[in-house]
Amino acid sequence: MADDKNSKRERFREIKKLNNKMYKLYTKESKRKNIPESEYLTAMRDPSNIIEFDNLQTYFYTDAGTVKAVDGVSFDIPMGKTIGVVGESGCGKSVTSLSLMRLLQGPQGQITGGQIRYNQLNKKRAVDITKLPIKEMQKIRGNEIAMIFQEPMTTLNPVFTIGNQLDECIMLHNPKMDKKK
Ligand SMILES: Nc1ncnc2c1ncn2[C@@H]1O[C@H](COP(=O)(O)OP(=O)(O)OP(=O)(O)O)[C@@H](O)[C@H]1O
Ligand SMILES: [Mg+2]
Repeated sequence: MADDKNSKRERFREIKKLNNKMYKLYTKESKRKNIPESEYLTAMRDPSNIIEFDNLQTYFYTDAGTVKAVDGVSFDIPMGKTIGVVGESGCGKSVTSLSLMRLLQGPQGQITGGQIRYNQLNKKRAVDITKLPIKEMQKIRGNEIAMIFQEPMTTLNPVFTIGNQLDECIMLHNPKMDKKK
């Protein structure tokens, strides 16, 4: 019995140690400034694709251990096509989409491996979304890539009018637009 408790405590300590190490690593990474383009510029495997998921790994470092929510997912989205991702509940569809949007809940949720290549046509370049500085990502998010979240009933805030919430989004992406317009 005492042994059992000790091994549990030992396991918990090991998890905690790994998580702290990972949080530190990724927090430091997210705070880096002046990241050179060379770190996130890439080339599409096939330029007729708009998105290429390549061996994506997205893990959650939780108190109960590491959850490998997405572990080696690869697929392409060809330009002008619609792709449906189908799978049982909990298989990682939402986490794959949140990785593309770079909206994972940090510091627990982290893209730990692979690439998400985005054919950024307006800039005539391809970028690895997983390596993009957050400032660059904010320009893409909502303007070039958007997401309709699961559970729409929890997406809108009942305290504000729908108009208010739609306006907020438009204003955020068009800072020069005046309120009246
Ligand atoms: N914040 C989190 N912390 C820990 N584990 C998580 C977290 N978010 C998701 N997961 C785990 O990641 C796995 C994939 O979850 P995901 O939400 O992507 O599934 P899904 O395919 O979208 O399922 P559904 O069809 O029910 O929407 C699940 O095992 C889930 O428990
Ligand atoms: Mg989902």
